[in-house]
Amino acid sequence: MWTMTIFPSANPSSVFFLLLLLVLHLCLLLGFGSPAASQEQQVGYGYDLRSVGVAPSGKTLTAELGLIRSTSVYGPDIQNISLFASFETKNRLRVRITDSHHRRWEVPQRIIPRQSPPPMLQGRHDQLQAHVISMKDSDLEFTLHPTSPVTFTVSRRSTGDVLFRTLPTLVFKDRYLEISSSLPADRASLYGLGEHTKRTFKLVPDDTLTMWNADIPAAILDQNLYGSHPFYIDVRSSSNTTSPPGFTHGVLLLNSNGMDVIYGGSYITYKVIGGVLDFYFFAGPSPLSVMDQYTELVGRPAPMPYWSFGFHQCRYGYKNVSELEYVVAGYANATIPLDVMWTDIDHMDGFKDFTLDPINFPADRMKRFVNQLHRNGQKYVVILDPGISVNSTYGTFLRGMKQGVFLRRGQEYYLGSVWPGPVYFPDFLNPAAADFWAREIATFRQTLPVDGLWIDMNEISNFITSPPVNSIDEPSYSINNAGVRRPINNKTVPASAVHFGNVAEYDAHNLYGLLESRATHDGLIKTTGKRPFVLSRSTFVGSGKYAAHWTGDNAAKWDDLGYSIPSILNSGIFGIPMVGADICGFGDDTTEELCSRWIQLGAFYPFARDHSDIHSIHQELYIWDSVARSARKALGLRYRLLPHIYTLMYEAHVRGAPIARPLFFSFPEDTTTYGISTQFLMGAGVMVSPVLKPNAITVDAYFPKGRWYNLFDYLRWVSSKNGEYVTLDAPADTINVHVRGGNIVVMQGQALTTRRARQNPFELLVALDEAGSASGEVFVDDGEAVEMGGAASEWSLVRFRNRMEGKKNLRLNSEVVNGTYAMKHRLVIRKVVIVGLQLKPTSHLNATGLGSNVSIGRQIRDGSSVVQIEGFSQLMGKEFGLKLEIND
Ligand SMILES: *[C@@H]1O[C@H](CO)[C@@H](O)[C@H](O)[C@H]1NC(C)=O
Ligand SMILES: *[C@@H]1O[C@H](CO)[C@@H](O)[C@H](O)[C@H]1NC(C)=O
Ligand SMILES: *[C@@H]1O[C@H](CO)[C@@H](O)[C@H](O)[C@H]1NC(C)=O
Ligand SMILES: *[C@@H]1O[C@H](CO)[C@@H](O)[C@H](O)[C@H]1NC(C)=O
Ligand SMILES: *[C@@H]1O[C@H](CO)[C@@H](O)[C@H](O)[C@H]1NC(C)=O
Ligand SMILES: *[C@@H]1O[C@H](CO)[C@@H](O)[C@H](O)[C@H]1NC(C)=O
Ligand SMILES: *[C@@H]1O[C@H](CO)[C@@H](O)[C@H](O)[C@H]1NC(C)=O
Ligand SMILES: *[C@@H]1O[C@H](CO)[C@@H](O)[C@H](O)[C@H]1NC(C)=O
Ligand SMILES: *[C@@H]1O[C@H](CO)[C@@H](O)[C@H](O)[C@H]1NC(C)=O
Repeated sequence: MWTMTIFPSANPSSVFFLLLLLVLHLCLLLGFGSPAASQEQQVGYGYDLRSVGVAPSGKTLTAELGLIRSTSVYGPDIQNISLFASFETKNRLRVRITDSHHRRWEVPQRIIPRQSPPPMLQGRHDQLQAHVISMKDSDLEFTLHPTSPVTFTVSRRSTGDVLFRTLPTLVFKDRYLEISSSLPADRASLYGLGEHTKRTFKLVPDDTLTMWNADIPAAILDQNLYGSHPFYIDVRSSSNTTSPPGFTHGVLLLNSNGMDVIYGGSYITYKVIGGVLDFYFFAGPSPLSVMDQYTELVGRPAPMPYWSFGFHQCRYGYKNVSELEYVVAGYANATIPLDVMWTDIDHMDGFKDFTLDPINFPADRMKRFVNQLHRNGQKYVVILDPGISVNSTYGTFLRGMKQGVFLRRGQEYYLGSVWPGPVYFPDFLNPAAADFWAREIATFRQTLPVDGLWIDMNEISNFITSPPVNSIDEPSYSINNAGVRRPINNKTVPASAVHFGNVAEYDAHNLYGLLESRATHDGLIKTTGKRPFVLSRSTFVGSGKYAAHWTGDNAAKWDDLGYSIPSILNSGIFGIPMVGADICGFGDDTTEELCSRWIQLGAFYPFARDHSDIHSIHQELYIWDSVARSARKALGLRYRLLPHIYTLMYEAHVRGAPIARPLFFSFPEDTTTYGISTQFLMGAGVMVSPVLKPNAITVDAYFPKGRWYNLFDYLRWVSSKNGEYVTLDAPADTINVHVRGGNIVVMQGQALTTRRARQNPFELLVALDEAGSASGEVFVDDGEAVEMGGAASEWSLVRFRNRMEGKKNLRLNSEVVNGTYAMKHRLVIRKVVIVGLQLKPTSHLNATGLGSNVSIGRQIRDGSSVVQIEGFSQLMGKEFGLKLEIND
């Protein structure tokens, strides 16, 4: 096998000098600053164009490329490679480069279904002209430049902006691929390329972003964590001298091998240790349209059950059933909402999956406990780890052996070690393993009817490091694993382990969490017939189709509170909108003040769960009065916003729109928003501006242009002319949450569980913009049907639009897109609240269209007004028009 021998007979310094000259020459020739120039050895010399073919449709181009000169750094070069460029849709361009003669590892179609690449076209040896392809109505254009070495560009037709321009440094070896693109450092803002804990959401040069799924705590900054997502979005602050800011595109490298991505500001370099170069470019041009196009390819986010949007309580270290009951009672007594109780590995017998500790969590008492939760309208979720204890008295293990579903290394099953001691790992590439898993879930649910499953440790985390057996365990290019280029086998399953179909762990490593998520998701549907809830630590491209995610093992530190915002925003960009960080912090001891501020922020994570480590103090929200006050206030608003949040779930499911969004998703024309990591939006117009520092009682928040009404006190609002920072009061029990004028938010009365909250009548919050307009929508269904929308379940979607009629009067109309569920269940709207009207205390108000009994209340303060219209009961599934006449 190939080892790293670099010109063994030559004088290293003279070789280096020659290489430097060559690189400089190439750079001057092509006018690029090359990232390769900083490298010590020349890794490759690029490829020349041999032949090129363009399909008559003009949408597809294929080319044969030949190696210019070989080097042996990181192994020999592949002589002949092929490039396939094709417009798969008008918004999606694929550029795939692979070995011309040998099939290489690619993420299998049955894991991420996608179009087959086009066949190789009859090539012409016409090397003089640039070859351009595009597609009718597409804003993207692909150009192959017949330079030596060959390069390509992807550009935006409407603005002429170059989005991706490869440098002449393409390297293609068996276990080392390298490709770079230049970027306009002054105009490009990149987000994504995870999973890492970052100080800022916007990526900062110079950064090496490593992807190799690892059980590294989220509390550690800038290292490869549990998931791999080689996807970024790039928001351009300008595209040309006349274009407005905000044109956005996305770039995915669909590759499951380990890699380093180096973001240098003026360039991006991918260094990948296997597979193929399979790029997808998404045209946008808005951030939301990029998400729509991205999730169209990788899978739409799974709908989550309604209950999962309630508050969750977990801890590693709950001692027995009595303690679980005590915690549930503590929440009720403190009147803090609690929807879901969890246990970590504590409930297991000897840390064996699908078992219960007979002493502390005996099955009969656990069953009574879970049944009681269900009667309360609450749910219960347990953890599963992939490692199956090797124990001849353990049924799950015996059945797994019988079915032969475990991962192998050589002729043997690979023996790892995790919580239960020695374990075998189910090989989820094997369809039989998914069946095995589904049956184990079904069997366990007969003992204990759990409502959801939490799959942890699935990077795969291993307590031991197995010695290398061959070169695949030690590739010559070391990715920056754990920030110290530690061996890829360290604390995981060795790369030389072999999956079903003779697939090396080396190639499939990053897919394990995705595959386990799919098996768990499918297994739950099979046994419950309901919409599954799966929370996975490890993820890959497309995981959002099956699972929710939490950001992993953070620490109870003020810094970690702040980092949670970039982390949840990244998950949204990766197509996993259901995400949260452990509220109050997992590791270390939290403090009263930190926990109080954390529940204020965490109440607005899409997934809101308090979770702590066995070595940390307890941090249930009722423990401190001040935390309980914060929780009642913030979670109270969350529960009132549930219809809105659930509608965002629907938008995520059908269009890939993140639930928690960066400010620039709604304000791409405002370049100040590009750098904001301390605030976010829930949907289009609800902005969360938390306190992230100790001893603070104010917060400096950025308000993009518009009117912003405080959701805790509608009379308090911020008017931002052109986007400005405002210092807001943030007393100890308070988080600032504002709704932007122009939005209609559908709300419901609050309750201590989502089940109760769902039974309350609806109300519309109509937040007017300067022109008196606003719009919004609500999606409702039973919250647990497998499908969300579609034909197999009943649902409703209702849109609301408000506008001024003449100078003074206001008209609010509903449009019932689908009224089935709302009519069947006779859902009613009982209140309309209008904020932002120009009113005098003496103005006469007359509302028509909602029956004759309506009462109109008003509050006016310092030029702000709130108008409440009540005393009616309007079926949500029936269209209505409300007219409000205002006479001064
Ligand atoms: C590369 O392709 C050329 C023809 O374009 C062929 O002559 C040569 O044998 C190929 N090399 C390898 C290693 O397959
Ligand atoms: C610049 O971009 C705008 C779109 O914002 C486009 O209309 C215009 O043609 C572009 N100008 C050039 C020179 O490409
Ligand atoms: C449960 O654990 C708590 C906390 O350790 C302990 O005080 C209690 O005695 C235990 N109860 C039972 C029934 O074991
Ligand atoms: C219930 O809450 C009150 C304060 O609201 C507290 O004094 C009391 O100890 C709590 N009881 C239990 C059983 O937790
Ligand atoms: C196997 O499981 C049983 C039942 O939990 C336990 O008592 C025993 O110690 C386990 N054996 C090993 C070798 O772990
Ligand atoms: C695994 O990584 C840890 C931490 O980087 C290091 O201390 C240890 O030596 C590594 N083990 C092996 C076998 O490489
Ligand atoms: C409305 O939803 C029902 C399911 O609740 C579905 O069967 C029907 O096709 C939908 N109608 C429209 C117009 O989408
Ligand atoms: C309110 O408007 C309706 C319809 O325009 C009208 O019939 C009614 O008299 C008005 N009521 C008042 C109190 O102005
Ligand atoms: C009329 O309005 C009052 C007060 O808003 C309310 O209590 C009553 O239920 C309403 N009657 C009807 C028939 O809606």
